[in-house]
Amino acid sequence: MKILHVAAEVFPLVKTGGLADVVAALPVALAQQGADVRLLLPGLPAVIEAVQGARTVIEMGPCFGAMRVRLLLARMPGSKLKVYVIDAPYLYLRGGGPYQDSQGEEWPDNLQRFALLGWVAAHLAAQDADPKWAPDIVHAHDWHAAMACAYVAEHTPTRAATVFTVHNLAFQGLFAMHDWPMLGLASRLMSPTGLEYHGQLSFMKAGLKLADHVTTVSPTYAREIATHEYGCGLDGVVRGRAADVSGILNGIDEAVWNPATDPAIAQRFDAEQFDGKRACRLALQAELGIDADDGALLVTMVSRLTAQKGLDLVLAALPDLVAAGVQLVVQGTGEPALETAFRMAQQAHPGRVHVHVGYDEARAHRLIAGADAIAVPSRFEPCGLTQMYGLRYGTLPIVRRVGGLADTVTDATPENIQSGRANGFVFDAATPAALERCVRRAVAMRATPAAWRALVAAAMASDLSWAGPAREYLALYKSLLERRAAKGG
Ligand code: ADP
Ligand code: GLC
Repeated sequence: MKILHVAAEVFPLVKTGGLADVVAALPVALAQQGADVRLLLPGLPAVIEAVQGARTVIEMGPCFGAMRVRLLLARMPGSKLKVYVIDAPYLYLRGGGPYQDSQGEEWPDNLQRFALLGWVAAHLAAQDADPKWAPDIVHAHDWHAAMACAYVAEHTPTRAATVFTVHNLAFQGLFAMHDWPMLGLASRLMSPTGLEYHGQLSFMKAGLKLADHVTTVSPTYAREIATHEYGCGLDGVVRGRAADVSGILNGIDEAVWNPATDPAIAQRFDAEQFDGKRACRLALQAELGIDADDGALLVTMVSRLTAQKGLDLVLAALPDLVAAGVQLVVQGTGEPALETAFRMAQQAHPGRVHVHVGYDEARAHRLIAGADAIAVPSRFEPCGLTQMYGLRYGTLPIVRRVGGLADTVTDATPENIQSGRANGFVFDAATPAALERCVRRAVAMRATPAAWRALVAAAMASDLSWAGPAREYLALYKSLLERRAAKGG
């Protein structure tokens, strides 16, 4: 089976969040199970610089405002994974981020930049971009790649089947309707039954409505986005596709996140050789200049600092948490108001709270390896990866019962402890008081070392690999191709 994954970011070349981690690991896991997988990426500077052995597959001529568009075929650095890269310097070769300039403003030509990504995917599906390879499945990730589903549906309907994965429904790719003619799509789609969304045009809707199947990155989030509370205005569209929406939980890349092999941490460890965990904790306290307090519950957060992540709950509960013996170490970037609030929290609690406003992969590993617990109190969370990294490193998650957090963390209730399933701490209400009660339960549990160690053992034994999810995706792809064949496509 030939599968093309279409995305805007991939770890370690371009990353703004967990999407990049998934796009790096899932194709490799699918290939390990025998699939012929390739990636399609926009030629952002970091991608053009890093890919290896690039050769031109086709010159595509002017499109979406770019005079020169070449499709390259290369390999991901240090990997056998083949990657198509769209070399369109006018649209992609610039400083700043993948979606925004260095001031945080959306690129004004994002419609053209990401329509081109979908357009090229459809040409690959039609086998007219690369005569030697055409996908059976086009798998598009988030709004950035969603137009692939529209172009395949409209221009190459008998070729590939399409899967659209929603990593985050809150980011929708909305554009002014007057730019519609640039898309080159039939005008019947310029309506609420097509891509129109309250007077704008929505790339997210292109994926939700026109993909053959829609997945989300956890089963719970798949149910949540069909509700008004979590649907971000698109719950009606999601309900309209109910039979074609499902959730497949993400895995983690165990080549990157594994305490037994991690080169970034003070001392390696695993469930049997657990001494290294203590060394990592001491090293972290020393590195950050916080109290070398053995009795504290050392809680970390590695996160985008945005409203999604429920950080306001942490800030509100912080004085009481510190009083209860918590140390908090935070690393993140995002909304300036939250960055400032966390910096002030550090000043208010010297020796107990440490905040690093910035993005640093190696440091994230040290934080997650050294802490006792990792807090992810999100208001919504499609999957969440850091709680799974925490599980892998014996760093117990403290999470809100939403989305993928609910699907990966089992609360330390007496019954769950008894059955050996408990691997963290879960709370429900999005209130500082509920978070505080939950953290206090963790503080109390840590005071009983044997009980804590049992939870850590369960956490570290959790199956987080991509093998299971990859099998689920392959079964889905197969069912879509069978459905297509049955229809005579
Ligand atoms: P989201 O994609 O919503 O941001 P996830 O938990 O799925 O949330 O993924 C976040 C990813 O980004 C994880 O790999 C996490 O380690 C990483 N990350 C977030 N903020 C930082 C940071 N400041 N420094 C290093 N890594 C970070
Ligand atoms: C999104 C979500 C996050 C998820 C990630 C990878 O960024 O916010 O919950 O883990 O995508 O699927």
